[in-house]
Amino acid sequence: MDSGFALRRAAQTDAMFLGDMLVEAASWRAGGVRPRHEVLNSADHRRYLAGWKRMADDGLVATGAHEVPVGAAWYRVLPQNAPGFGFVGVAVPELIIGVHPLWRARGVGRALLRGVIELAGTQGHARISLSVERDNFARNLYRAEGFALVAEGESRETMARRTR
Ligand SMILES: CC(C)(COP(=O)(O)OP(=O)(O)OC[C@H]1O[C@@H](n2cnc3c(N)ncnc32)[C@H](O)[C@@H]1OP(=O)(O)O)[C@@H](O)C(=O)NCCC(=O)NCCS
Repeated sequence: MDSGFALRRAAQTDAMFLGDMLVEAASWRAGGVRPRHEVLNSADHRRYLAGWKRMADDGLVATGAHEVPVGAAWYRVLPQNAPGFGFVGVAVPELIIGVHPLWRARGVGRALLRGVIELAGTQGHARISLSVERDNFARNLYRAEGFALVAEGESRETMARRTR
């Protein structure tokens, strides 16, 4: 059956859409949508996207009809002295994923996740990591796709998996 979406490599011109998905990732809790400028300017979140697309940045965009973007997953290598929530080691990229609310629970997230893991592997990264709040169902998706717990915080978990 046609899933209604396709994946393509994220380009530099996708920065605005990736920003939308970063806002989604930061406001996953029902009723918790945070203002775009607040998320994109916060120290916690801007590090995942500022200056996109840098040398080691890469990712995928899911598109629906007429190539309209509906979701994205990307990764960035963050330095040890300014790590992200999901930092597990030097040169291990951190993953960010978000799907437009109207497109959720239709397989887009899983497809993006699988695709971006493979992409990271082909780009020479042996591992990839992420951070997820413990009560976000996405945690189950990550576990089902092979991510294992690396560290536990008060409300967050850091997970990682090998790319191959
Ligand atoms: C997390 C997210 C990327 C998953 O993308 P998605 O396209 O909705 O996921 P999929 O359709 O591929 O579904 C993956 C699995 O999650 C399950 N799932 C989807 N929506 C769900 C929900 N609201 N509650 C519980 N499980 C859900 C699906 O059932 C599926 O499992 P299954 O195949 O065993 O049934 C997306 O929901 C999202 O953008 N959420 C808000 C942002 C966010 O939380 N990002 C991650 C921050 S760490």
